Amino acid sequence: MRIDMVRKAEYLHVAVLFIFVIRISPSPVLTTGCPEHCVCDDQLVVQCAGQQLTTFPTDLPLTTRQLILANNRIVELPALELNYLSDLVYLDCSNNSLTEISESTFGNLRKLVYLDLSFNTFFKIEDQTFGPLVSLVMLRMTDNPGLSEIHPRAFSENAALQVLDISRNNITALNVSSLVALPALRSVGLSGNPWLCACETEDLCLWMQTETFKFQEEGQTVCESPPDLQGRRLSELGFLLRSQCHPGLGHHDYLFFVVIGFVIFAAGTVLAWAIGTVIVLCQRYTRWRNDEVDPQEKDEESERTGTSRSSTVVLDGHPPHPKSP
Ligand SMILES: *[C@@H]1O[C@H](CO)[C@@H](O)[C@H](O)[C@H]1NC(C)=O
Ligand SMILES: *[C@@H]1O[C@H](CO)[C@@H](O)[C@H](O)[C@H]1NC(C)=O
Ligand SMILES: *[C@@H]1O[C@H](CO)[C@@H](O)[C@H](O)[C@H]1NC(C)=O
Repeated sequence: MRIDMVRKAEYLHVAVLFIFVIRISPSPVLTTGCPEHCVCDDQLVVQCAGQQLTTFPTDLPLTTRQLILANNRIVELPALELNYLSDLVYLDCSNNSLTEISESTFGNLRKLVYLDLSFNTFFKIEDQTFGPLVSLVMLRMTDNPGLSEIHPRAFSENAALQVLDISRNNITALNVSSLVALPALRSVGLSGNPWLCACETEDLCLWMQTETFKFQEEGQTVCESPPDLQGRRLSELGFLLRSQCHPGLGHHDYLFFVVIGFVIFAAGTVLAWAIGTVIVLCQRYTRWRNDEVDPQEKDEESERTGTSRSSTVVLDGHPPHPKSP
């Protein structure tokens, strides 16, 4: 009896241990390797921050979900190796020496939710660069001192994007036509850029003026040029730029309106005259038809009874007198 109890307890112990071991044992792919200088854990996180890496790590587990490469000196994100990581959800490449990314860089990362490209040396973001990242919710791309050009359609496919931070770059103008259309976007950081407050940024300023709540550090989002607007907030210049960039109508426009007005007036008059004439003619015709139809009907009646006078009637133009039975 007692031995039985002890055995049962032992079984239970082994079972618990077994379950525990199964739960913490890493997946097969992870056990096959972890990149040098990196730490891989059972949560599919690969941590390679601050290891003075100059190249993208090799031997990454294919199931990696979080990859942290921050604070290294990596100069390139190789599209081929990166796109093997199709389960990647979180990618932190901040504080490296990256200079170029393109549409192919992220071609297969359809689950990526978070991307950090801050503190790098980008100077230009091309069309569709982030196009394949359909799940992307947060994109941080701050503190790239030379980044001055972002293609109008760079973010146009990122319908899930909620937070975009492009503060402290070298951007003077940003075409916001596709950003305005992103349905989930709720936080945009634009501060610390040398904004040029002219017609190029009219749409941006108007957007900031109407949806101020969306903009982080809106008070520090100010013009660098032209000199007379230096230091002014973008969010208070929308209407000013609109009136400057769409000045009142010129003489030619007024002349155009006068000519168009006259043409419309003339055409209207002619049309009214034509319609009036047609109506009068119609009325006359109907009256004449009515006068004529009556006798004809009687002719048809008489035809049925054997006598035909219709031809004579029409030729004479004299309506026949009603026949007495
Ligand atoms: C960037 O990384 C270096 C180490 O590579 C570190 O010394 C520096 O403080 C980091 N800078 C930022 C802004 O995190
Ligand atoms: C920022 O852009 C301006 C031109 O718009 C350029 O003259 C300047 O060198 C750029 N700054 C950096 C740090 O690249
Ligand atoms: C902004 O980009 C869109 C689409 O690329 C283009 O049609 C539009 O003309 C641009 N607006 C300005 C002010 O350049």
